Amino acid sequence: MGQTIRFGVSLDSDLLEKFDALCDERCYQTRSEAIRDLIRNTLVQQEWEDTGRDIAGTLTLVFDHHKSDLQQKLTEIQHDEHDLIITTLHVHLDHDNCLEVLVLKGAAERVRSLAQRLTSTRGVKHGKLSLTTTGQDLA
Ligand code: NI
Repeated sequence: MGQTIRFGVSLDSDLLEKFDALCDERCYQTRSEAIRDLIRNTLVQQEWEDTGRDIAGTLTLVFDHHKSDLQQKLTEIQHDEHDLIITTLHVHLDHDNCLEVLVLKGAAERVRSLAQRLTSTRGVKHGKLSLTTTGQDLA
């Protein structure tokens, strides 16, 4: 980590007022911490767009395990890309529905593609990919 540097920011007063309201709403103690998080978010989003770069994330799937072959299809797809999957968690939500969470890490393009394959499998009711960073390039 580098040294901390202070710098001034010029802002329109209306914009600053909105920013302060946002800081309050999101429980930031200081504007500096809010600005640091905004910068980190932008850098992480840039990582997602860089297809060759490693990213981490979670994919949450909800499906009915009674649908024919669905569980088997999902397992086959996961075995195809097993090196991207760090762990999985399976919860039986009720008599019919299952919730599965996959923790993923690997090249952005491959992670996204795996998530899309699983989510678009017939019978999957909902799939939600939540991307984050491996944290390696962030201070
Ligand atoms: Ni289940």
